[in-house]
Amino acid sequence: MCGIVAYIGKKEAYPIIIKGLQRLEYRGYDSAGIALLDNGELNVYKKQGKVSMLSNYAETQNTKGNSGIGHTRWATHGLPNDVNSHPHTSTNGDISVIHNGIIENYAPIKAELISRGYTFQSETDTEVLVHLIDDALKQEKVNLSEAVRLALQNVVGAYAIVVISKDYPNQLVAARKSSPLVVGIGSEGDFYLASDATPIIEYTKQVVYLNDEEIAIVDLNEGLKIINIANQEKTAYVQELEMHLEALEKGGYEHFMLKEIHEQPRSIRDCFRGRLNVEEGWVALGGIKDYEQKLLNAQRLIMIACGTSWHACLVGEYLIEDLARINVEVEYASEFRYRNPIINENDIVIALSQSGETADTMAALTLAKSKGATILGICNVVGSSISRITDAGSYTHAGPEIGVASTKAFTAQVTVLTLLALRLAYKKGTITRKKFQSIIQELDAIPEKVQRILEKDKMIEEIAAVYKDSKNALYLGRGSSFPVALEGALKLKEISYIHAEGYPAAEMKHGPIALIDEEIPVFVIATKGTSYEKVVSNIQEVKARKGKIIAIVTEGDTQVKEIADHVIEIPDTDENLVPLLATIPLQLLSYHISVMRGCNVDQPRNLAKSVTVE
Ligand code: G6P
Repeated sequence: MCGIVAYIGKKEAYPIIIKGLQRLEYRGYDSAGIALLDNGELNVYKKQGKVSMLSNYAETQNTKGNSGIGHTRWATHGLPNDVNSHPHTSTNGDISVIHNGIIENYAPIKAELISRGYTFQSETDTEVLVHLIDDALKQEKVNLSEAVRLALQNVVGAYAIVVISKDYPNQLVAARKSSPLVVGIGSEGDFYLASDATPIIEYTKQVVYLNDEEIAIVDLNEGLKIINIANQEKTAYVQELEMHLEALEKGGYEHFMLKEIHEQPRSIRDCFRGRLNVEEGWVALGGIKDYEQKLLNAQRLIMIACGTSWHACLVGEYLIEDLARINVEVEYASEFRYRNPIINENDIVIALSQSGETADTMAALTLAKSKGATILGICNVVGSSISRITDAGSYTHAGPEIGVASTKAFTAQVTVLTLLALRLAYKKGTITRKKFQSIIQELDAIPEKVQRILEKDKMIEEIAAVYKDSKNALYLGRGSSFPVALEGALKLKEISYIHAEGYPAAEMKHGPIALIDEEIPVFVIATKGTSYEKVVSNIQEVKARKGKIIAIVTEGDTQVKEIADHVIEIPDTDENLVPLLATIPLQLLSYHISVMRGCNVDQPRNLAKSVTVE
């Protein structure tokens, strides 16, 4: 999400930090900021936009100093402007903090701090951290690292932070929980801190990866000390970096797409973090709560999107209609806007968009708004155009997606729509308490199940090798696995340039069956559930015509195994959640086929990540 970097030692900190931020820019580029300690002065510079905007500005100022912290932001709380940029600084200007993550309970902490006289400059969740640290220093009369430890005890959520203070010129204090942080140990008694090793590798190969709830104190006189939140001293395990700079920029993966596929256990969890509570048995989407009653009263919902996001809408249609019993119409944004659609002030139009910038989706929303409809957005990029023009919405929190072929953004969109369907169903009473509880429990287990599928990567690669030279491919599914089939076909065609079509399994006999011969791979989602037997029949129809079957089945399946050429097992889950799992092997298959065909996986020909033209 955000990138953080820091340095303390004998060198000039500014060039190291700026270069480091550029390397971390893939993690977010809404804004950037830096705090440098020079002769007792803490100079803080922050700019909306890319790191180059910050450096252009900072270089007109004093950039001296042998210690500093820097941040490149992917906005979560608060618009991407100068004020919301990190570092955030205490009111007296003595302490600055950079943070990657989300402080989930920032609102009550903020209210409490305000009631005790603290003033806030930004809309961020992070600013509570700097005031909490400042407060602990004053109230508890402790040193900086202890103040950080006490402050973090109040915090729920994810964080990687680095703290710099005027009063501790020889020290930086860092901590992590759920967000990454690496300490680089320099050869001159100096230290580097960063979200990943990218900014560090050209200076040192000796690194320590902090574990969750660990605090690192780097001190020019005392060296590196690690304690945990419970104040126990921990051993620093120094590792030798073996990776090349280029690879590290992709977090060790060969391509951004592969990295993003592998990030899904985390991105799905980030998406439902704070919105799902299994113990207490609730689901909530804070961003749209003001429109909840309208959603519950709605006769129909219209969902609009393009590309992969449109496929997520289709999954949403199955979920919302089945669970919440509200009629959903899914429209291509580009079609909707030009066909004089019937919409009025009773309608709710929901736009799905990873980038939040897609021109057709924007235009369709503008049209709906002009007709008086309520417009809601589900976007990944915070502060994007769609998130700004909509009445309300929910972010997917998948983190920056760099590979043009969408992967983790899709599963995050499906996660938000699942939460929406569950919330509406719960409020309308259209599902039993027992069923609701069982689905949210299953949803909570999805990240771990996605991880289990990712561990089958080698086997999936072997299947990919068999079909890499295909000219055509067919993808079949029924129910909410039909949009998964569409998405599987889109992934294959966009990155490997193999012609692929997704079809509802039963529709195959109305046309695509004519394509079937011994050359064509047919990918079928045949997981257990309502239409399992019907899908098995469709598989038989393909086999009778000598087609090759690659089936995604539920663990333990025996029936499909007997007839398919290859099976990929996925863990059992609630039928409504199958899209979140069945998508994963299809992403990996497309990825490997694309690599084997020598295609540009991350930047496929003729495509763009964000389509801002009609
Ligand atoms: C482009 C991208 C796709 C994406 C589509 C919609 O075609 O290559 O990956 O699904 O735009 O983008 P959006 O940002 O609105 O989800």
